[in-house]
Amino acid sequence: MSQQLSNEQLISLAMQYGTPLYVYDADHITAQYQKLTAAFAHTDTRFFYACKALTNVNILKHIKSIGGNVDCSSVNEAKLALLAGFDPANVLYTSNGIHFSEIEEAQSLGIHINIDSLSNLEKFGKKFGHSYPVGIRLRPNIMAGGNIKISTGHDKSKFGIPVDQLDKILTIIAKYNLAIQNLHIHTGSDIKDVDVFVKGIDVLFDIIPHFKELKSVDLGGGFKVPYKKGDGETDIPLLAQKVKEAFDNHPNPNGNPLQVWFEPGKFLVSAAGYFITEVNVLKETANTVFAGVNSGFNHLIRPMFYDAYHQIENISNPEGREEHYTITGNICETDTFAWDRKLPEIKEGDFLVFKNAGAYGFEMSSNFNSRYKPAEVMVKNGNATLIRRRDTFDDLIRNQVL
Ligand code: LLP
Repeated sequence: MSQQLSNEQLISLAMQYGTPLYVYDADHITAQYQKLTAAFAHTDTRFFYACKALTNVNILKHIKSIGGNVDCSSVNEAKLALLAGFDPANVLYTSNGIHFSEIEEAQSLGIHINIDSLSNLEKFGKKFGHSYPVGIRLRPNIMAGGNIKISTGHDKSKFGIPVDQLDKILTIIAKYNLAIQNLHIHTGSDIKDVDVFVKGIDVLFDIIPHFKELKSVDLGGGFKVPYKKGDGETDIPLLAQKVKEAFDNHPNPNGNPLQVWFEPGKFLVSAAGYFITEVNVLKETANTVFAGVNSGFNHLIRPMFYDAYHQIENISNPEGREEHYTITGNICETDTFAWDRKLPEIKEGDFLVFKNAGAYGFEMSSNFNSRYKPAEVMVKNGNATLIRRRDTFDDLIRNQVL
């Protein structure tokens, strides 16, 4: 693993750019990407960064510079990827629940598309027939993932075309002579167990013989990263070995060897991100001592939305005597980041850093309570660059009709 950013570096960035501040370590993203390519060196693989985790164009440019591809969940994300300089051939759009017009727009961009409903597959067939090779997102009916909110492959999930509807899929393909080049599944996020991916592959092996023009199999994202000490993580080398074995044992009956695609989000950017806040207020009560920071779930929603754990460090006083604190925000609604957490003594004005803030941190932020979204900084080879300025009042009223 690449070196973490030091407390001194983070403090100096907080002083220079102000807080709250998101900081991303580009070299850590590179190290994570290289872990994947090294582990899968013996399988024909492509990694599409699931940019819904963090879409800043400078992060996308960095992913491009290290040889990655991009997976998008909206046509606007695809446009951001193109803005970042990606070739359309390296951009994948895995759609869900969208109007057909958005698929038409994606088609006009020349990017790869995974279609996730029979209805859109039919419309696609009618309009494009065999002329534009396309992928299908399937629902494998596998329960997996860190919690139900981030599980997507189970038999009550809205995502993908249920694999038990294969007959209907094949009828549409035959009717319009569709060229299906990719089969996609994504079972969820925070998946530690390698066998979940193997189960998914097994579901696909059963149906692959029906897809004569298939070129790739897309196993989605969801690799688990550790959020707290002692947390497990997906064993990537073991996964690579099992994927290789599975494909070696199941050569494509229709000839060409299939390429394996993945769409990692958290794995690439989660631990690369640091969210720096400053303590506004200390409040002692009978039950706990509150440390109220200059942020809230408007900036980092994961603790309140998923009960997610983020490690918090007091970088202003790392060696201080440990006490219990409840870390809250300044939002006019309960916004607890951590209840009764042991941290080195906190004083008003201290900088508290939330770790693993790169994935679904800034990206899920909002202007709730009419507060500004934070600035973002990227550090690469020791050099820091501002990659998004902090909101101003003008940003809050930009689209309001006054
Ligand atoms: N591919 C597809 C089709 C997806 O829906 C997702 C995530 C990914 C790839 C990337 O998954 P990852 O490698 O990041 O686990 N906001 C939640 C996570 C939601 C994930 C949504 N889809 C969180 O903060 O935990």
